[in-house]
Amino acid sequence: MQSYDIAPGVDAALGDFRVPERLGFGLVTAPVMYSVEYRDGAWGRGRLLPYAPIEVWPGSRALQYAELVFEGMKAYRVGRAWPNLFRAEDNCRRLARSAERLSMPAVPEPLFLEALDAVAGALAPSVPGQSGRALYLRPFLFGTESGYMLRNSTTFRFMVMASPVEPYATGAIRVLIERKDVRAVVGGVGEAKAAANYAASLRASTAAVARGCAVALWLDAGPQRTIQELSGMNLFAVIDGGLVTPALDGAILPGITRDSLIKLARHRGQRVLERRMPIDELLEQIASGACSELFACGTAAVVSPIAALVDADATEHAPARVDAVAAELREALLAIQERRVADPFGWTRDVARPPAAAPWARAVAG
Ligand SMILES: Cc1ncc(COP(=O)(O)O)c(C=O)c1O
Repeated sequence: MQSYDIAPGVDAALGDFRVPERLGFGLVTAPVMYSVEYRDGAWGRGRLLPYAPIEVWPGSRALQYAELVFEGMKAYRVGRAWPNLFRAEDNCRRLARSAERLSMPAVPEPLFLEALDAVAGALAPSVPGQSGRALYLRPFLFGTESGYMLRNSTTFRFMVMASPVEPYATGAIRVLIERKDVRAVVGGVGEAKAAANYAASLRASTAAVARGCAVALWLDAGPQRTIQELSGMNLFAVIDGGLVTPALDGAILPGITRDSLIKLARHRGQRVLERRMPIDELLEQIASGACSELFACGTAAVVSPIAALVDADATEHAPARVDAVAAELREALLAIQERRVADPFGWTRDVARPPAAAPWARAVAG
């Protein structure tokens, strides 16, 4: 049964869309989006629409007070006609936790999945088929009520937009240790996927890029001695042959890729420790060789090898090995995400078929 509406123009927008060869990450936006509104304490009926500008009040709390939380996930279609999602229910749970932290209404799981299925199902033929490429899906929830009063909105909107993407970074990245700014404090919104965290990180991210690095490495908001994460990725180190990652401290985003790698590495018999990671200790371990390798992980990058940590004074800390353990884990995880091997964890699920009334349902039948 179709439980969302299809706006005029969707079929034409899909028909006109050609996926270019060069995708980058977010350079190309898919021609459809999903939108559903919340008012009077309840979610309305969703709509699939052509991708286009939307109207929001200039005074909306999303614009004025960053009342906005989001997710990032991918649909994969490697060697198959129909795409699948990866741990979509976990993204839904994390969005609900983020919403709860900002005292916004949760998006119920059936509605969250309907939105993803609507967008990824309509775009099924445009989901890239080559390994490493995917359809990036960006669900986001924001407060639409206008007003300066410091309280939550009473009206909200949940949307999903999408982009066919290449891997976020190819090759080993350099990472700038951020010694001045802090991204998130315990008790704040760091462990929520809240737009405000990214606003706090943009100055350092821009400075990192200006210094030839891909991204900034964040330290704790107190004495700035303990590693948290990167601006859009979690961090792993190979220390004395085992994997070590910062323990979730209440300010780190609990990455779904991080959690998947912990489970996958343990399943493969590797040692994994979640613990406090002081930056000075890690730099000494790189110098002594005890830390042999570093890598970052996230939905966008999957697993990204790190060539060097660069300090504020330009000192470079380069581990002896680059992309050894990381390459193995990347391939093992990607093979599950892309359904090239059996999925022992039950992490993947098919995108639901479009409703029979959708004009593109016949085109993608089979
Ligand atoms: C700050 C931050 N940390 C970590 C991650 C990795 O999370 P995930 O693996 O769920 O994509 C992301 C990306 O979403 C992020 O924005």
